[in-house]
Amino acid sequence: MCGIIGCVSEKDCYGALYDGLKRLEYRGYDSAGIAVLDRELRIFKKKGGVSNLSAFYARGGTGIGHTRWATHGAPSDANAHPHRAGKIALVHNGIVENFAALRAELEGEGERFFSDTDSEIIAKLVSRAYRGDLLAAVQSALLRVEGSYAVAVIAEDRPGELVAAKRKSPLVAGKGSAGLFVCSDIPALAGTAEYIAQAEDGELIRIADGEIEFFDGALHPVPKTFFRPQEELRALSVAGGGYFMRAEIAEIPRALRDTLAALREKDFAPCARALRAAQRVFAVACGTAYHSALVFADIVEKEAGIPVLCHTAGEFRYRAPVLGTGDVLVAVSQSGETADTLEAARLARARGAYVIAVTNIGCSSLASLADFLLVMRAGAEIAVAATKSYNCQLLCLYYLAGQMLFFKEERLPSWWGSLERLPAAAEASFGCFAEVDRLADRLHGARAMYYLGRGLDLCTAREGALKVKEIARVFAEGYAAGELKHGSLALIEDHFPVVCISTGASLAKKSENALAEVKSRGGYCALFSQYPQVLQESCADAKCLLPALPEPLMPAVAVIPLQYFAYKMCLERGFDPDKPRNLAKSVTVE
Ligand code: G6P
Repeated sequence: MCGIIGCVSEKDCYGALYDGLKRLEYRGYDSAGIAVLDRELRIFKKKGGVSNLSAFYARGGTGIGHTRWATHGAPSDANAHPHRAGKIALVHNGIVENFAALRAELEGEGERFFSDTDSEIIAKLVSRAYRGDLLAAVQSALLRVEGSYAVAVIAEDRPGELVAAKRKSPLVAGKGSAGLFVCSDIPALAGTAEYIAQAEDGELIRIADGEIEFFDGALHPVPKTFFRPQEELRALSVAGGGYFMRAEIAEIPRALRDTLAALREKDFAPCARALRAAQRVFAVACGTAYHSALVFADIVEKEAGIPVLCHTAGEFRYRAPVLGTGDVLVAVSQSGETADTLEAARLARARGAYVIAVTNIGCSSLASLADFLLVMRAGAEIAVAATKSYNCQLLCLYYLAGQMLFFKEERLPSWWGSLERLPAAAEASFGCFAEVDRLADRLHGARAMYYLGRGLDLCTAREGALKVKEIARVFAEGYAAGELKHGSLALIEDHFPVVCISTGASLAKKSENALAEVKSRGGYCALFSQYPQVLQESCADAKCLLPALPEPLMPAVAVIPLQYFAYKMCLERGFDPDKPRNLAKSVTVE
């Protein structure tokens, strides 16, 4: 969603805000803006990416910035933040749910609006409440706001001061040599701030007189401990013209190695009792993380005989789940800030369930509300479409599944020792890329595709289809190979592309049958398997040999050529793989 940043510095802060927005751009890139305060308040905002702001500059050590993912109001210069009202400039990430009522009320009282956004309403409310005490004005204005927000506010007559506040949208404060900051997330501050502290829901932050103070909703001071951000969350840098997505795929072996090292050190004893006693296990997540939860559910059920109910987090929270004390909920989220996943975890906690979080950000909102935490070591993931975090999530979930079996039956799964081979196998999967280049070259004009698989391969098929939809804008569906003839076969015609993942020996023949059905109707088939014989005997047009691992571990490797395929398709079709249309990396609104 939107990214916000604020800075108070003894030096000019335009450059620091611009750099911060660049690092926040994965949260939204419809439009961007910066307000800086010297003797007067100056605002620069533009539709389009953050780099549009490089054409401007203004002096001043106090400022705020915003990169937008539109909710209310189309992307435009006017709807870009910061919004100004009287002496106030404000940036906002979130949604004002009582937007229509508040706007009607304010218009009735003669206020004129210059944008279609819900955020401008907060600026108006702060301005109307402002009598020289910015903290008090922000606090009282927010009492009227329903919904979610992280806001950063400055006032024209208060240089050197900035107030921020949060409810349901993430907000952190940081201290660094370039100044004092507030920001939407830690990765965007890693490298700039040496120390960081997080705001909780309902809290406000004031930066003034060279200090950062936290307050509760009644403006009582809240003591905070500042900590050093995870060093590995510093963003990778990509050389001119390179893409983060490509660099992040290349990093998968390193990310898996580091995650493995962290898991080896992890003490699972604290969750042993909860896992041993689990009546029911739930796994919830969104997007790519949901696909890793599907793999987890399958493996735990097979290995430990414990049924796992797996849901997308947004559905889970609204379906009145039967969930309570004695149940375990595993919430998976790269960012740890996805609104639906957070709400599902909160719901589980409120019902007395034990919450295990798997996340890339050890100090995220999800991490802070979990009973037990598994932090992967993917490092900062900047490209909007998840890649290396998926492989690392799977590794964490394999580990967790193994521990569940261990606590239940005092034995480890047969594939446990092979986890060590995952990083090398991931590296070996890069050997498929030449074949995948040819495939993308051939298929880039496709308007739709199927991805087929059975068992765990179906999870990989779904993730492959999601990737190509997200970044290459090709309609794709991940489908159970056995279901093809129950409907979807009707769409197969000459050259219709079908990608099949077949890494389960017992189901390989069945998947091959599906390919034969496609082939005999003129479809174009590409097959991925670690079994040379399966490839040899297949009717597929393109064949790709994956590195071999025990079957339960194959999802973490088989997906890599599919990630790379989506990337290549995206480039062939002329799109930016790092910034897919309409999407944002961190979905902090429902
Ligand atoms: C967004 C991203 C996806 C990601 C999903 C869940 O939709 O575009 O790539 O998988 O959010 O994100 P999370 O941070 O919870 O894993």
